[in-house]
Formats: sequence, structure tokens, C-alpha cells
Amino acid sequence: MDHFVYRDGRLCAEDISLAHIAEETETPFYCYSQATIERHYRVFADAFADADATVCYAVKANSNIAVISVLAHLGAGADVVSGGELKRALTADIPASRIVFSGIGKTGEELAAALDAGILQINVESEPELELLGQVATDRGVRAPVAIRVNPDIDALTHDKISTGKAENKFGIEWTRAHRVYSRARTMPGIDIVGIAVHIGSQVTDLEPFREAFVRARDLIVLLRADGLAIRHLDLGGGLGIPYGDEPVPSPDEYAAMVKSVIGNLDCHLILEPGRVITGNAGVLVTSVLYVKEGATRGFVVVDAAMNDLMRPALYGAFHDIVTVMEPAAKTEHQEVDVVGPVCETGDTFAANRLLPPLGPGDLLAIRTAGAYGAVMSSVYNTRPLVPEVLVRGSDFAVVRKRLSADDMLSREVVPNWLKTR
Ligand code: LLP
Repeated sequence: MDHFVYRDGRLCAEDISLAHIAEETETPFYCYSQATIERHYRVFADAFADADATVCYAVKANSNIAVISVLAHLGAGADVVSGGELKRALTADIPASRIVFSGIGKTGEELAAALDAGILQINVESEPELELLGQVATDRGVRAPVAIRVNPDIDALTHDKISTGKAENKFGIEWTRAHRVYSRARTMPGIDIVGIAVHIGSQVTDLEPFREAFVRARDLIVLLRADGLAIRHLDLGGGLGIPYGDEPVPSPDEYAAMVKSVIGNLDCHLILEPGRVITGNAGVLVTSVLYVKEGATRGFVVVDAAMNDLMRPALYGAFHDIVTVMEPAAKTEHQEVDVVGPVCETGDTFAANRLLPPLGPGDLLAIRTAGAYGAVMSSVYNTRPLVPEVLVRGSDFAVVRKRLSADDMLSREVVPNWLKTR
């Protein structure tokens, strides 16, 4: 459930019409609903309320500091994957004691920053990383709280590009080899083994692969404990899928029930890293129609947003629902069109053969379910400025990231002296 609904014929974010925001900020812009973010966080956190668990929001899904702040106010922790995300989470007042650091390519500086901040857990994904972390920690006279991310060799049955738990994927340490790595880790003075982590992929809509992966993690904990290792944390990653259309997906309650049935009375502190399920349906990308063009075989609606603003359709062939900001009259006949952006690539297509009401220049469209992996993945391709992000709360709204200007973009570039003509 989200808070983007038509009222008096206009699509609103909570109590404000998107058309009104568009007048103030111009299009394209991302718009997030605070009430929706809060609702999704609460539904997820409540599903684990009777478990010993920390919900660490996966900042990569939407890392705007205002969005992280909304979650910080609700008591969320954070899952970060770079020094930059760590800085964002701390800036948004997520306590370090609720931050976990994931990712397969952490640098020495990033590991040092995490140790200096005193975060809850560092998820180590390879033996060389373990060695580097041990060294960085020893140099600082501290012990790094480590979970080894294991690769359970489970197919998450999601898009190939966001599947992370198969043996051939770059992530984690093979679950069959993990025992050896723990044996090495326990001999290292800079390493404090606290847990085990798994994450099999994103937009996972079938609970079975999760269950199989969690069983492997659970069994490994039993084995490691039998060997005298005090494994206290079980980090189950993120990945729970959401509806982009009207497809059925498991609810956080169903997901939590499955987790609890696998974990039983293992007596572990659970760490959960949901991203998309918290912010995905809490955001839309609002764009204006520039032109309606009749092609040789089909009609094109050319809008002012493009693949650089929302990459998911171009990158993954992802479906995003597109609706008009002005509610179409009940019996309006819809036409099949392609909704495309201005970027010079055929891949810059938000939707092909999509049924939409008749459209003309200046009409506003909302591309839905764009709150996760939308703004964070945008680029300035074609020297298109990053678009504003707006946060709505009730009838208030604030621009929480300003539009970049062409000058901002050019200001970091330098023409060397030998090319200067004046
Ligand atoms: N934890 C780890 C270690 C992750 O790698 C991810 C996502 C998450 C948690 C959060 O997963 P979520 O709950 O959001 O599914 N750009 C892609 C998604 C990439 C996900 C990367 N890792 C997309 O637009 O679909």
C-alpha cells in the first residue's frame, strides 16, 4: 500500500498534488512519500518484533539523507556498501552500533573508517579482505567485528544481474569452504568473529530459495558452534521482492514466519537488510510529455525523463507502471504507445506497447515504484543534470536534493594548458 492516490482527479503524494509540486520544481523530479516509507518500515520491523533482530535498511536502495533520516527516527539501522554510504548513514544519525558494512571490494580506507566509527559488523567476502581487515584493525589496536558472508550456492530465481547467491557469482565465500576461513579468522588478533551473513539476490518473489539459503546458514552456525566459535549474529541480507504491477509477492509477515521457522531456537541476533521493500513503492518519477510522435509502426510519447534518471527499464528490462497525473475520465480510450526519453539510444525506453490515455505536450506522467534503485542509479549521461528529489509529509514538501545545473557539471572539468587557445 502506498500514499500515491488520485484526489479530485489529480494524482497526489499524500495530501499534495504532484502537479503542484511540478509547478514549483519543474520536471523531471523524484517524489517520495514519508508516510509510505514509514509504513513499509513498520510493517517489516513489526513482522520481526517478537524476534531478537536489527533491521538495517539497505541504504543503496535510496540513500538520500532525508530518506535515511526518516528511517533513523523509527529506530532503523543501516546496511552500507561504501565509505560514502557509511558517511550518509552517520550523517542521518543512524547509530554506528546499528550499521553493518557489506560489499566485496572494500578498500583499506573504508575498513579503517568503519572501525573508527565503531560499527556493529563488517561482512567479509574473501580471504584477502579478511587479511587486510585483520591488519588494519591490528594497526589501530582494535578488533574488527566480523561476519563471513557465505555463498550458499542457491538460485534466487530473480533477474540474472541481481542474483548473488549462486556459486558462479562473485559474492561471499563458498559455504563449503567457510569453515576453513573461520578457522583462520579465529587465529587473527585483529578479528572478532561475531556472525555469519548471506544475501542471495534482490527482487526475490519466491520464499523457497530464501529458505534453502537460510537453512544452509543455520546448519553452518550449528557446526561452527560445535567447534567452539561463539557465533552471535545471523545476517540474512535483503532481497524481498515487491509488486511493480499486480503480481503476487510474499508479504513481510510471510517472509518473517519462514525465517522464524528456519531459525527456531538458534539463539542468534538476526540482522535484516531490506532495501527495496522499504522505499520501492514510496517513490515516483514525475516527468512531462515533450512530444507525441507518430513513427512508421508505432506511436512514441517522448518525455523529459530518460534512462540516465531511471536506469532500471534499460538495464534490466524492468517493468514500471506509468500513470497520468491527471486522472483520465472513466471511459477514455487508451492507446498503445512507447514511452521514451531524449537520450540517443533505443534502450532509452521506459515502456513499449503501453496502454495510456491520449497525451499531449505538457501532460504529466508518474513512473511508479521508483523509490528504490531510481535516483541512486542515475547518471549525467548526455550531460543531463541529476534531477531533484522531493520528500512529502502530509501537505508539506521539501526539495531534499536540488537539481544539478549544467555549470555544476562542467565546473569539475579542466582543459589543460596545452589545449587552451585563449
Ligand atoms: N544486502 C546486500 C548485501 C545487498 O547486496 C542488497 C542489494 C541488499 C541487502 C538490499 O536488497 P533489496 O532488499 O533492496 O532487494 N539495482 C537493482 C538491485 C540491486 C540490489 C543490490 N543489492 C535493481 O534496480 O533491481
